[in-house]
Amino acid sequence: MHARSAAAGLALRALLTALLLAGCAPDAEAPRLPWAAAPFPAVEAPPENPTTPEKVELGRLLFHDPILSSDRQVACVTCHGQIWGLSDGLPRSIGIGGVGPAGTGRTGPNATPRNAQTIWNAAFRATLFADGRAASLEEQVLFPLADPIEMGRDPEAIAADLREIPAYRALFAAAWPEDEEPIVVQRLLEAIAAFERTLVSDDAPYDRYVAGDEGALSAEAVRGMFLFAEKGCAECHVPPLFESDRYEPTAIASADEGRFAITGDPADRGRFRVPTLRNVRETAPYFHDGSARTLEEAIAAEARGAALGEEEVAAIATFLRKGLMDKSREPKRPLEVPSGLRVPLDGYQIPR
Ligand code: HEC
Ligand code: HEC
Repeated sequence: MHARSAAAGLALRALLTALLLAGCAPDAEAPRLPWAAAPFPAVEAPPENPTTPEKVELGRLLFHDPILSSDRQVACVTCHGQIWGLSDGLPRSIGIGGVGPAGTGRTGPNATPRNAQTIWNAAFRATLFADGRAASLEEQVLFPLADPIEMGRDPEAIAADLREIPAYRALFAAAWPEDEEPIVVQRLLEAIAAFERTLVSDDAPYDRYVAGDEGALSAEAVRGMFLFAEKGCAECHVPPLFESDRYEPTAIASADEGRFAITGDPADRGRFRVPTLRNVRETAPYFHDGSARTLEEAIAAEARGAALGEEEVAAIATFLRKGLMDKSREPKRPLEVPSGLRVPLDGYQIPR
């Protein structure tokens, strides 16, 4: 979004100025960091799909609309839900034919081979999925649609259905006023991708600490942050995104070939994209197979030879859980979607 990149540009300039000032005046208190402070990147949309409010709103509705699935019950939000850190709380996701509200109560015959990743900050990924098989957010959307486990619907058939719904006709026309027929598969992908580019998490206590608010992180979280650097975690989970576009060996035993299935390079066997640790508090269970139930379990496994004591694991967990949490830009769940189908239920609507 233009406004957003302008704001990010200003923030970047402010940060650079702050760094310069800090350099000139050694007395000025810069927050203690184990690494050089790097500015949070700005979201870049591809030139052929600039982000506009119209596309984002259309994408939000499509994301929540089960018209995209063959059983008319599964929407993207089923596996990337708000209360599950834009994931689903399950070791492996349950797609079409499943029953029960989205999240840990859901059961069904169709489980995905991998754990659902969070889509927080997906805007910054050069490649998508644990094995990197999609090269853009636009392209990525085709995978769950066509996947026989996840949504199982021919995208052309979805477009045909959408053309029959007046509210969607109006929304697509508003997003692409120049198009003679805007409801085509490519535009559907573009709208959802534009929506996903707004799912940015960049205002966590860590970010406020970096910006000079020393009180934003507790002493325990700061200790965890230094351990995170000392133990080598930050070499792969690189701040400020705490992820990287690299494929690295998993730390757990798994038969999943990972990146090898895409490149055919034997060196890529068992390698996975380094996932983000932003909002990781909410995205359990962890790893590509969802085998680690708690964050502590995942951190202990990730020690990768650098022995970690229980207290060190606890401090790192505090840093990740509290320091990297920001869901201020969480998307609003629409109560109704233009198809008239029911937005999948999740914990928000379950009486407790
Ligand atoms: C049935 C569950 C399910 C549904 C429905 C689903 N996804 Fe996913 N999603 C997954 C799983 C599982 C993965 C991880 C697959 C892998 O890495 O191989 C994933 C991965 C992703 C990623 C990649 C994130 C990353 O960090 O690389 C994006 C983006 C995404 N999904 C968006 C969507 C969108 C948009 C929709 C709707 C069109 C959707 N998903 C529908 C389960 C689902
Ligand atoms: C050599 C690169 C590398 C290093 C070093 C590394 N990680 Fe990871 N980390 C990864 C990869 C790759 C994955 C995904 C593995 C998988 O899904 O099987 C991962 C996954 C994780 C996860 C699970 C995230 C999720 O959403 O499933 C956590 C938590 C984590 N790492 C924390 C750490 C901590 C803490 C350290 C330091 C003690 C660390 N990592 C060091 C590459 C690395």
